[in-house]
This record gives sequence, C-alpha cells and structure tokens, in this order.
Amino acid sequence: MAARVLPLLLVVVVAAAMARAPTAHAWGKEGHYMVCKIAEGFLTKEAATAVKELLPGWAGGELAETCSWADTERFRGNRLPELSVHAMIDKTLRTIMYGYGYGDCHNTNGEKDMCVVGAINNYTNALEDSSSPYDPTESLMFLAHFVGDVHQPLHCGHVKDLGGNTIIVHWYTRKSNLHHVWDVNVIETALKEFYNEDVSTMIKAIKMNITDEWSTEEKQWETCRSRTKTCADK
Ligand SMILES: *[C@@H]1O[C@H](CO)[C@@H](O)[C@H](O)[C@H]1NC(C)=O
Ligand SMILES: *[C@@H]1O[C@H](CO)[C@@H](O)[C@H](O)[C@H]1NC(C)=O
Repeated sequence: MAARVLPLLLVVVVAAAMARAPTAHAWGKEGHYMVCKIAEGFLTKEAATAVKELLPGWAGGELAETCSWADTERFRGNRLPELSVHAMIDKTLRTIMYGYGYGDCHNTNGEKDMCVVGAINNYTNALEDSSSPYDPTESLMFLAHFVGDVHQPLHCGHVKDLGGNTIIVHWYTRKSNLHHVWDVNVIETALKEFYNEDVSTMIKAIKMNITDEWSTEEKQWETCRSRTKTCADK
C-alpha cells in the first residue's frame, strides 16, 4: 500500500470510531494487487512490453495478477521439497521483514542483506543481468511483491518485535497485531467504509491523488531513487 495513503486513512478511520468487525477477505492480496495495478499504469511502453514477455500464462497479461504469487506459493510450501523454489520463498519472506534501510538490512540471525530492501536490490540486479541464475519471471514477481511490501512501514521496522507481529492490538472489536493492521485491516476497513468494497474505485482515488493532490511531491520522491540510501538518510 502506498505509505502516504495509509496514515491519512488511519486517522479518518479511527476518528470515525465505528466498531464493526471487518469481513474476512484475503485483503493482503488486494493490497498487493492495488499497488501493482497502480504501478502498471506508470510503466513506459518498453517496460510494459518487457513485463508482458516475462509474465506467466496464468497472469492473463496482467502484472497485478502475479503480485501475491510469493505469499500464495509460500503457504503451499509445506508439501514441497526442501530445496524447491517454495522453500526458498518461505525463507526469503520470513527473513525480509526488518531493517529500515540498506545499512541496517539483516534478519533475526543477523545475516546481512536479508531484508525487503536487500530482496528488491537482488531481484532488480537479477532482472538486469541476463547471466543471473535466478529465473527472470520469478524475479519479476518477487520484485513486484517486495515493492508492495516496502511501502508497508512495518516491513522496515524492528527485528525485536518482528516488524510489529508481536505487538497485539485491537482493530475496532477484533484482536489483531500491528503488522496485520497495516497489511490487511486498514485496507479492508477503508474499502468497506469509503469505497463500497470496490477495489477499482479505491485504485482510481489513489491514482487521482498521485497525478493531482500529491504531484507536487514528485521531486521529493525522486530523490529516493538511490539503492543504498533511504529517504530517512538524506
Ligand atoms: C541477496 O543477495 C545476497 C548476495 O548474494 C545474499 O547474501 C542475500 O541473502 C540475498 N538477500 C535476499 C533477501 O534475497
Ligand atoms: C487523497 O488526498 C487527500 C488529501 O491529502 C486525502 O484526504 C485523501 O484521503 C486521499 N485519498 C486517498 C485515496 O488516499
């Protein structure tokens, strides 16, 4: 989810203070879908063609359809052999939660480059390098997934609380944890309260803000292009 969108929604949602239990949809999936759907619209013609060529057949030509692939495959992982791509995904997803920036990128075992920023760098490099041992289609799907994740502030949080996973909170009447609130609960509630459960309306609203309301911030966002520094370092 776009980081700028959520704090605003959070304030509005909390202020509204409506104690309703959100319905149990797979909104984690919706969050990733929305990020990719928005991103797809900003691809150059060349990039869009390259992406289309790499997409698996089941994506139906849509990058957004593949953006939860990493999570979905991970949950299937238990019936798969240890060295399969699924085991690798599980290891990667389990360990990329933490580290606010490149200089602080490590997992719970202190292994360097095991954070979401490290994963983005690795899969970007893999896509740029035709001699990389990584499968380019998988690299693209990982990259698209992790770019969504990195905009979730708790993927750049502390190892100590496992990116907010150990912080138990209530979202209205429902028990949750802070990581899950950002991943799922906020999006689910916003969709319900403001967008009539319609993902495409919410995407439209966010897109409109990107080209309108927030466009003056574009220059500032562009200064965050560096692979080795976060904006917080600047
Ligand atoms: C990124 O690549 C480095 C160097 O090969 C490796 O040590 C690290 O585990 C990788 N990190 C992720 C998250 O894939
Ligand atoms: C669009 O921007 C306005 C003003 O910052 C904000 O109130 C609104 O929540 C934003 N909409 C979305 C979908 O983020």
